[in-house]
Amino acid sequence: MENNRFYITTPIYYPSSRFHIGQAYCTVATDAMARYKRLTGCEVMFLTGTDEHGQKIEDKAREAGITPQQFVDNIVIAPGGVLDLWKLMDISYDRFIRTTDGYHVSAIQKIFKKMYENGDIYKGSYKGKYCTPCESFWTESQLKDGKCPDCGRPVQDAEEEAYFFRLSKYADRVQDLLENTDFLEPRSRVHEMVNNFIKPGLEDLCVSRTSFTWGVPIDFDPKHVAYVWMDALFNYMTALGYMNDSYSDVDKFWPADVHFVGKEIVRFHAIVWPAMLMSLGLPLPKKVYGHGWLNFNGDKMSKSKGNVVDPYVLADRYGVDALRFFLLRTFPFGTDGNFTNELLIQTINTDLANDLGNLVSRTTAMVEKYFTGRLPQARQDAELDKELIALASGLRGRYEAQMEKYQFQNGLEEIFKVVQRANKYIDENAPWALAKDMEANGSRLAAVLYNLLETVRICTVLLTPFMPGSCEKIFAQTGAGPEGRSWDSAAQWGVLPGEVQVQKGENLFPRIDAAKELAELERIMDEARRAAQPALEIEPQTEEKVDFDTFCKSDFRAVKVKDCQPVKKSDKLLRFTLDDGTGTDRQILSGIAKWYKPEQLIGKTLVAIVNLPPRKMMGQESQGMLISAVHTERGEECLNLLMVDDKIPAGAKLC
Ligand code: MSP
Repeated sequence: MENNRFYITTPIYYPSSRFHIGQAYCTVATDAMARYKRLTGCEVMFLTGTDEHGQKIEDKAREAGITPQQFVDNIVIAPGGVLDLWKLMDISYDRFIRTTDGYHVSAIQKIFKKMYENGDIYKGSYKGKYCTPCESFWTESQLKDGKCPDCGRPVQDAEEEAYFFRLSKYADRVQDLLENTDFLEPRSRVHEMVNNFIKPGLEDLCVSRTSFTWGVPIDFDPKHVAYVWMDALFNYMTALGYMNDSYSDVDKFWPADVHFVGKEIVRFHAIVWPAMLMSLGLPLPKKVYGHGWLNFNGDKMSKSKGNVVDPYVLADRYGVDALRFFLLRTFPFGTDGNFTNELLIQTINTDLANDLGNLVSRTTAMVEKYFTGRLPQARQDAELDKELIALASGLRGRYEAQMEKYQFQNGLEEIFKVVQRANKYIDENAPWALAKDMEANGSRLAAVLYNLLETVRICTVLLTPFMPGSCEKIFAQTGAGPEGRSWDSAAQWGVLPGEVQVQKGENLFPRIDAAKELAELERIMDEARRAAQPALEIEPQTEEKVDFDTFCKSDFRAVKVKDCQPVKKSDKLLRFTLDDGTGTDRQILSGIAKWYKPEQLIGKTLVAIVNLPPRKMMGQESQGMLISAVHTERGEECLNLLMVDDKIPAGAKLC
C-alpha cells in the first residue's frame, strides 16, 4: 500500500552555534506533519540531522582551539545541544543523521565516484579571484570594491583544480519539472527559481574543495573534499541505506514524500538535488516545500542583536506545547512571519487560555459540580444541537484538506472555529440555569455537557500533532479512552460512553499577565544582548603625544572625602567635600551617582586634579575632577574611582 508510507525530512542543520527559535520552526512543522500522518495511519519515516562539514566549522573549531569533531560534538550531542533541544521540543524523529557518521561518509565517496564514472562529474579548474593572505577564492561579485571582502587587500586572478558536476546538462529537465509538475511549492517559488537561476543559464557546479580539509575526502583524489552541499543533500538517501549497509529502507521509503526546507535553500533542493538524482537515475522526491523565515520584530533573528529568545527559555516559561502551537498557529507556513513577544503572549492568552483552556475547564468543572464527575445517560436531542454536532463531525474533513496542503495555520483555524462555537454553546444553553431544576432539566443538562465533551474530544484528536503532551492531559481530564483518540473517531459523533467519567485537573494553559511578562522578556533579551557583547572592552590608547612639561602642569593630589551628597534634581551628580591638605575644603562635583552611593565614599582617599579652572554644574561650583578608571563590560560602561592607601596624607602630590 504505497499510500500508507510517508517519508518527510527537515534540512540538516549546520551546528555552528546553538539554535534559536527560528531554527526550530521547520523542525516543529515537520514534527506536526509526521505526527499527523501517523495519526491517519501512515507508516512514517521522519528524518532530521546535522550537516557537520565545511570551512565554517573548521574555522570556528580552530578559533576555539579544538578539533572540528569536538566542536560539532559540543553543539550536537553535549548537554543542551541539538539532540536535547529536539527532546525538549518533543520532536518525534525516527532517524537522526550526522554527516560525520561513518556510513554516510563512505556512501558520499561512492556516490562521488559513481558520478565521476558516469561522466557527470569531471575535473576542471576553478577560476576566480584569490586573496593570498586569507587563502580564499572569491567570485567577481563577492569582491568589495574589487578587493577581498574579508581583509580588504588586493586579490589576484587564480585557477585551482576542482571537480565539477554537469548541472547545465539537466537545466531543461529541471525547468520542466519545476514548471510542469507540482514538485516545488508554494508555486511562487517556482518563478523565482526559473527566472533567477535557470533562465540566465545554469553553470556546472563546483563540487570539490582543496582549500580546507574538514569534509568527505574524495578517495581517488584525496587532496579534494566534497562540496558541503553535495555531502549534505545525499543525507536524505544515505539515511535510508543508499550506498551503505547501515540501513535498508530505500525501497520502503524512497522517493521522499516531502522535503521541508527554508526559502534560502530551495535553490539547492529544487535545482541541484533533482539534477544529481537524475544523473544517478534515481526517482525524484515527490515534493519540496519552501517555507518562509521567521523574523523578530521585523528584523532578522540573530543572537548578537539580542532579539532572539532562546527556545529553552520560552519552553520553560510557557510550556513546549504552547510554543509549538504558537509557531504553527500564527504564521502561514509558506511565507515569512514576524515573531513578536506581544503576539506570542496574545496567542497563548486568546487561543489557549481563553478559548481551549476555558472550554475544557468549564466543561469538566460542570460535570463534577452537577454530576459529581460522572454523566448519567441522557436523552440526546440532535435537533437542538444540530449546528454544533454538524460543525464538530465535519471538522476532520476540513482539517485534513488543510493539513494535506501543509497549511497548519488554516488547519488550526478550523479547530478553533469549533472551540469558539462550543464556548458559545455553553453560553446559549446556560447549564447553570438548567442546574437550578435538576428534576426537570437534569437530562438536558447531561446532554449539553456530553455534547461539549464530544466536541472537545474531536478537537483534541486533531490537535494532537501540534500539542501532544497537552492533548494527553485533555483526554485524561475529559474521559476519552483509546477508542476516542483515534483518527477514525475524529469523524464520528457519539464515541464517548454516555456515562463518561471526567476528572478535572490542573489548569493546562494559565493566563499570562501580559504587561509583566513583556517586561520580563525584555529583561531576558537585554541580558542576552549583553552576553553577546565582548566581555571586556578597553579604550585604545591615544596616539597623540603630550610633551612632558605640559603633562607636569597637571596637579594631581590625594584628597580625603569629608562628606558626599547627592545633588538635588540630578540623577548623575554627587557633591564631594574634600580635604586637599590646604586647610580649606574643596568642593568637586562628579557624575558617578550611577556607580556609587555617597555613604560608601566618606573617609576614602581619592585622586583629584586640582588645577582645572572651576566649573559650574547644576548651579554649583566644581573645583577640579576626581580620577577614575573606566572600561566596558558586556556593553555596559563600568567606572571605578581611583582610591589610594589611607596612609597617604591629604594633599600629597602625585607625580
Ligand atoms: N545545512 C544546510 C541545510 C542542508 S539540507 C541538505 C542549512 N543549514 S542551516 O542550519 O543554515 O539552516 C537550517 C534550516 O533552518 C534552513 O531551512 C533555514 O531556512 C532554517 N532557518 C534558519 N533560520 C530561520 C528563521 N529565522 N526562520 C525560519 N527558518 C530558519 O541551510
